[in-house]
Formats: sequence, C-alpha cells, structure tokens
Amino acid sequence: MTISKYIINRFFLIILTLFTLSWFNTIAAQDADGKQLFISKCQSCHSGDMKTDMTGPPLFGVEGQWEDKAKLHEWIRNNQKLIASGYPQAVEVSKLKPTAMQTFPDLTDPQIDAILKYIDEKGSGKLDAAKGGGAGAAGAAATAGDSSQHPLLYGIITLILALAALILIFINKNLKKISDDTEGKKTPEAVPFFQNKIYLATAAILLFLVGGYFTTKAMINLNRQKDYEPRQPIFYSHKVHAGINQINCLYCHGNAWESKTAAIPSVNVCMNCHKTIQKYNGPELKDKNGNPIDGTAEIAKLYQYAGFDPQNPDAWDANKAKPIDWVKIHNLPDHVYFNHSQHVRVGNVQCQTCHGEITGMDEVHQFAELSMGWCINCHRQTKVNFNVDSTSGNQFYSIYEKFHNDIKSGKMDSVTVKDIGGLECQKCHY
Ligand code: HEC
Ligand code: HEC
Ligand code: HEC
Ligand code: HEC
Ligand code: HEC
Ligand code: HEC
Repeated sequence: MTISKYIINRFFLIILTLFTLSWFNTIAAQDADGKQLFISKCQSCHSGDMKTDMTGPPLFGVEGQWEDKAKLHEWIRNNQKLIASGYPQAVEVSKLKPTAMQTFPDLTDPQIDAILKYIDEKGSGKLDAAKGGGAGAAGAAATAGDSSQHPLLYGIITLILALAALILIFINKNLKKISDDTEGKKTPEAVPFFQNKIYLATAAILLFLVGGYFTTKAMINLNRQKDYEPRQPIFYSHKVHAGINQINCLYCHGNAWESKTAAIPSVNVCMNCHKTIQKYNGPELKDKNGNPIDGTAEIAKLYQYAGFDPQNPDAWDANKAKPIDWVKIHNLPDHVYFNHSQHVRVGNVQCQTCHGEITGMDEVHQFAELSMGWCINCHRQTKVNFNVDSTSGNQFYSIYEKFHNDIKSGKMDSVTVKDIGGLECQKCHY
C-alpha cells in the first residue's frame, strides 16, 4: 500500500471521528450551558441583552459588583435566605425592585458559573462578535434561535471535508495509474468512483442520515407555536391587571389550583370589577406594533359582550352576557395529558416558570416551547416537595418510605420528578 493511499484511508476515519465528535459536542454542550439556563430560568425577569431594565435589573457587570463570589452564588440560589441573614449587600439589592427574585435552590455551582459567564460574554458583546456580528439583533427570539444553527454549520463543514476527501481519492487514483503505467504494470480497468458500490452506499447512507435528521426535526416542530401572540377580541392586558393592579392569577384562573385546566374567566368575573371601573386611566397602552390602544374603548367592548349599559347599571341582567371568543394560545396535542393542579398545587411550580413573566405582558404570548423535551427536562431537574406537614408537600407516594431511607443513609441527596415516575410514557400520553 502506498503512503498516499494509507493517508487517504485514514482521512475517512478522521472525517468520521470529527463528524461524530461535533455531534457529541452539540449534545453535551446543552448540559451545563449557561445560555440555556439563563434563557429558561432568568430571562423572564432579566433582559436577554443584559443591559435593559426589566422586572429584574440588568445583569451585565454584576460579578464585579459582588466582592464575595460565594455570596453572589448564594444570592442566585436563594436570595430570600441571604436577605434574611442580614448580609448588607443583599439587603441593599433587595430594595432595587418592588418584586422579589425567584429562588433557584437546585442550581449547582458549575451551573451558576456557566450562567455568570454567559452574562458576561453576552453583555460585553463577545458572543455576537464571535458569530460574525450578524446576530447582534438582540432579543429573546434571536438568542433562542442561534443554538439551532450549530447542526447546520457542522453539516456544511462535513460536506466540505467529504468533498475534499473525494478529490484526494481521485488524485490518488490517477497518480497510482501513472506510476503503474511507468512501471509497465498492467492494471485492471479502474471502476469510476461513481460506479463504486462502497462509495455509492456511503453517500446514500450519509444522505439518508443528514436528510432524515433535518426532515424529522422540521416535522416535529410542525405544530409548535412558541411566541404565538394572536390578536384577541378585546385588548385585555395582563400587565394592567396582574402586574400594575396585582390581581392574583387565581382570581381569574382559579381552576388551575383545582383541576386539569386553568380555564379563562367568564364575562361575569370581569364585571365584578368593571361594573364600577368604566374608564381606563392607567399608563398608556400600545399593541405589539406600537399602535396606541384606548383602554376605555376596550372596556366598552366588554360591555357589548356583557350587555351592560353604563348609563343604567341597575338594569343589567348577568344572564344575557355573551361569552367573549378569546383565541386559545397554548395547545398541547390531544395525545398529551397535562394537569395544572398537579403542577401548581402539588408540585408548587410557579405559573411564571411555564408561562413567562405574564405580569409584564400586555397581550399574552406563548413563552415555552411545549415540546416533550421541555416537559422531560424539567422532570429530570425539579425536586419533589416532600416537605410533609398537613398543608403542603406531597404525601401520596408509596415509595416515599424508600426515598426517605435512601436520603437518610446518604444513597441519594434529593428526589426529582423523574424518580417518582415523571418520565414514564403513560403518565403523559393517554
Ligand atoms: C421572578 C423574576 C426573577 C427571576 C426569574 C430572576 N431574577 Fe434575578 N432579580 C430579580 C429582581 C426583582 C432583582 C432585584 C432584587 C430585588 O429587588 O429583590 C434581581 C436581582 C438579581 C441579582 C442582583 C443584581 C445586583 O445588582 O446585584 C442577580 C445577580 C440576579 N438577580 C441573578 C439572577 C439569575 C442568575 C437568575 C436566573 C437563574 C435570576 N436572577 C432570575 C428578579 C428575578
Ligand atoms: C382579571 C382576570 C385575569 C387575571 C388576574 C389573570 N388572567 Fe390570565 N387570562 C385572562 C383572560 C381573560 C385570558 C384570555 C385572553 C388572553 O389570552 O389574553 C387570559 C389568558 C391567559 C393565558 C393564555 C391562555 C391561552 O389561551 O393559552 C395565560 C397563560 C394566563 N392567562 C396566565 C395568567 C397568569 C400567570 C396570571 C397571573 C400572573 C394571570 N393569567 C392573571 C384573565 C386573567
Ligand atoms: C408546569 C407548567 C405549567 C404551570 C406551572 C402552569 N401552566 Fe398553565 N399551561 C401549561 C400548559 C402545558 C398549558 C397547555 C394545556 C393544554 O393545551 O392542554 C397551559 C395552559 C394554560 C391556560 C390556557 C387554558 C387551559 O387551561 O388550557 C391558562 C389560562 C393557564 N395555563 C394559566 C396558568 C396559571 C394561572 C398558572 C399558575 C397558577 C399556570 N398556568 C401554571 C403549563 C403550565
Ligand atoms: C379585580 C378587578 C378586575 C377584574 C376582575 C377585571 N378587571 Fe379589567 N381592569 C381593572 C382595573 C383596576 C383596571 C385599570 C383601571 C385604570 O387603571 O384606570 C382595568 C382595566 C381594564 C381594561 C383597560 C386596560 C386594558 O387592559 O386594555 C380592559 C379592556 C379591561 N380591564 C378588561 C377586563 C376584562 C375583559 C376582564 C375579565 C377577563 C377584566 N377586565 C377583569 C380591574 C379588573
Ligand atoms: C417547570 C417544571 C415542569 C414542567 C415544565 C413540566 N412539569 Fe410535570 N411535573 C413537575 C413537577 C414538580 C411534578 C411533581 C408533582 C408532584 O410532586 O407530584 C410534575 C408531575 C407531572 C406528572 C405526574 C407524574 C407522577 O408520576 O405523578 C405528569 C403526568 C406531568 N408532570 C406531566 C407534564 C407534562 C405533560 C408536561 C409538559 C407539557 C410537564 N409535566 C411539564 C414539573 C414540571
Ligand atoms: C413529561 C411528559 C411526557 C412523557 C413522560 C413522555 N412524553 Fe411523549 N410527548 C409529550 C409532549 C408534551 C408531546 C408533544 C410534543 C409536541 O407537540 O411537540 C409528546 C409527543 C410525543 C410523540 C409525538 C412526536 C412529537 O415529538 O411530537 C411521541 C411519539 C411520544 N411523545 C412518545 C413518547 C414515549 C415513547 C414516551 C416514553 C418513553 C414519552 N413520549 C414520554 C410529553 C411526554
């Protein structure tokens, strides 16, 4: 075997290794990925460009402001505890905003470090520069989107490498032929590479794999509608109601506490307040295109549905109200079972974790992907609240006894939803 042939044979192996490695890289990178963590856990309150003031303050440079790094970790994990301990900086920071920050007791130190690193890189523009400056368009959508570009990039690199390999093989063939000719050796008529069964088979398999990957991915995404924000019949603002006026979510979506669905309140629930609140005097409202909205006119639309005459409130007959045809935003496929009370009441999961910072949205948009991976990831990470007293916690699992003993003997240090069966297909699929 000539040396060039040897190298070319290895070349295929090298390409294959590179290709596999690059796949693993994309998969592994998702684990302690600061960006993923930031988007899923922090971005509902802290702006994605790290510089805009939102529910939470902008985070760029925050690492420098905290002298004691361990305390910063403590803050992110459980700010309430740190404030309660009287640590001066925590007390100071807690006065920044009227709302308190959520706690994240499950975040590990490496995860927090990854988040802080992402904050720094994103805020200083390093990430955007590394991407050729093209993706500077900021915003959650842009940040969420770019992770999906990696497979494409790797695909292109692989294609280029494969092309290079083919050219090399071709050159090698010709060189060999020339050398054989000069040595006067008789070689059998070479099979052109496009008739070579091995190459053809390899190409077909590769095409099948790559094509299959992208087709499947596109098909799976078919019915998903993250960020869906339809126009509603009335410009009803959650920011005005649940944010500025701090009306509890359960006042209108009380079903979420008790049943599978969270449900949308009926017109009569609106009228509890709007019999008397007939004008809107709050901050200026704008729709997502920036057009001004007249709140008072929107309340008048509500009266249309309710059949209510503000001039003559006593004549109102609640039975004549027509339902408002709100457009449903969140839609799981029919083959999935999702139960609100199981999460909100038993699991103690905040609405905002799944629906985003609703109190800051005028019209609601879909915050989460609602993919199977989204459900499963949370079930892998979220700890079950076994904190049993008569009012909270979950006392219903027979395996509880075993977990209790395992934790006691140090075999496990916490129990996730996965451990109680949250990854079993039939729990989520009818
Ligand atoms: C529910 C909204 C919310 C979420 C989610 C949230 N934060 Fe905060 N964060 C706040 C608020 C509000 C403050 C200001 C402190 C206060 O007023 O209590 C804050 C303050 C901070 C501070 C201190 C800022 C300073 O100037 O020192 C850091 C650091 C921080 N958040 C990091 C994070 C990280 C990291 C995450 C995600 C793991 C996160 N936050 C998720 C609302 C939130
Ligand atoms: C005063 C009543 C009221 C309050 C309070 C309220 N909502 Fe709503 N909510 C509605 C109405 C009406 C709709 C349907 C119109 C729309 O989608 O904006 C709705 C829609 C939603 C949707 C989208 C439903 C869909 O179609 O998929 C979510 C999610 C939601 N609310 C969550 C919340 C959360 C979280 C809170 C608390 C922070 C809250 N709501 C507080 C009345 C309320
Ligand atoms: C664990 C994630 C999760 C939590 C926590 C959660 N929701 Fe939902 N919510 C969903 C999903 C998923 C859907 C879509 C359900 C469907 O299509 O069957 C949904 C749908 C809704 C809807 C549309 C109507 C319906 O019932 O389908 C409203 C309104 C709503 N949620 C409000 C809330 C409120 C208010 C809270 C807090 C009290 C809350 N959600 C907590 C995941 C969650
Ligand atoms: C608990 C009391 C309460 C309930 C229930 C309530 N609202 Fe309101 N609503 C208010 C308050 C307070 C304002 C703000 C008034 C102001 O700032 O001048 C408001 C403002 C509005 C506005 C004008 C601002 C905007 O969001 O566009 C509309 C429209 C409106 N409400 C519709 C509704 C509808 C529809 C429902 C039922 C789903 C409802 N409200 C339920 C208290 C309530
Ligand atoms: C933010 C985290 C989170 C997300 C997202 C989430 N879940 Fe859960 N889920 C939980 C928690 C916590 C529990 C455990 C409640 C308990 O203590 O029993 C749970 C329990 C369940 C259970 C009962 C499991 C059992 O063994 O009893 C089902 C079924 C379920 N979830 C379905 C879903 C589906 C379907 C989705 C996606 C549409 C989803 N969940 C998304 C946190 C989440
Ligand atoms: C925690 C809840 C949960 C568990 C456990 C779960 N699924 Fe799913 N599954 C979902 C959700 C939500 C969807 C809808 C995803 C979408 O619409 O994109 C889904 C969709 C699917 C689909 C349709 C393809 C797709 O991605 O849309 C198949 C097939 C499927 N699941 C199979 C399984 C199998 C097999 C298991 C057991 C190993 C399982 N699921 C366990 C929540 C779950």
